[in-house]
Amino acid sequence: MQKFAGGDKSWVGKFTYSGCACLTCKGSAGLATERPGYQLVGMNLTLQLREGLPEDMQTLLRDYPREAWPENPHFARSVQNWMGAHQMFRRLAGITRADTEAYLDNTASSGAFASRMSYYGDLLVRNLHGHHSWEDHAFFPEMRRADGRFEQGLETLEADHVQLDETLDRFTRAANRAIKLIQLDEKQVRGEVGELHGCAQDIEGFLARHLPDEEELVVPIILHHKLRG
Ligand SMILES: [Fe+2]
Ligand SMILES: [Fe+2]
Repeated sequence: MQKFAGGDKSWVGKFTYSGCACLTCKGSAGLATERPGYQLVGMNLTLQLREGLPEDMQTLLRDYPREAWPENPHFARSVQNWMGAHQMFRRLAGITRADTEAYLDNTASSGAFASRMSYYGDLLVRNLHGHHSWEDHAFFPEMRRADGRFEQGLETLEADHVQLDETLDRFTRAANRAIKLIQLDEKQVRGEVGELHGCAQDIEGFLARHLPDEEELVVPIILHHKLRG
């Protein structure tokens, strides 16, 4: 387990959500409750239960398989950047999960834990909320206009966002409680960090299902309809 340095108190009060900072979303912000479509998704398509997109949502993926994307002339830089944002989310989710483990294993001090959680936790939550909002309000509508055959898949992805946002909210509350308790009563912190660790694992698991499904629905639509030149 990695041993963390640091431990100053500059992290106090920094864990707040104020809109996305990633290049793809260009600073957009939004709330989970504004999202459309999630009630229309059948239970067997929820994040925890499905093992990929349904067969009929993979019509274009069969013509545009993932391994052929890099050599497709319409696999534009902006699409690669959007997938790069997904990589960043995977990394940030892994960092926050590993940081909670380091604290629970006594290989990181409470100050180092709080400092890193304030920074990386904030980055994860802020960027994911903004990214989801931009996809729901701009990106997915563009995909709908381009090709009407994938409505069920897009609604499933929107429902994922609602579910992910609920977990991000649990994560934020647990992180803020843990950081606050470090200042007030450090003996109680371990329980909160245990809760936080569960949330971080949930986020990692959700992303491992949501991100590949999203890419494999959306990228073939973009390539087939030459939406990015
Ligand atoms: Fe995404
Ligand atoms: Fe998404």
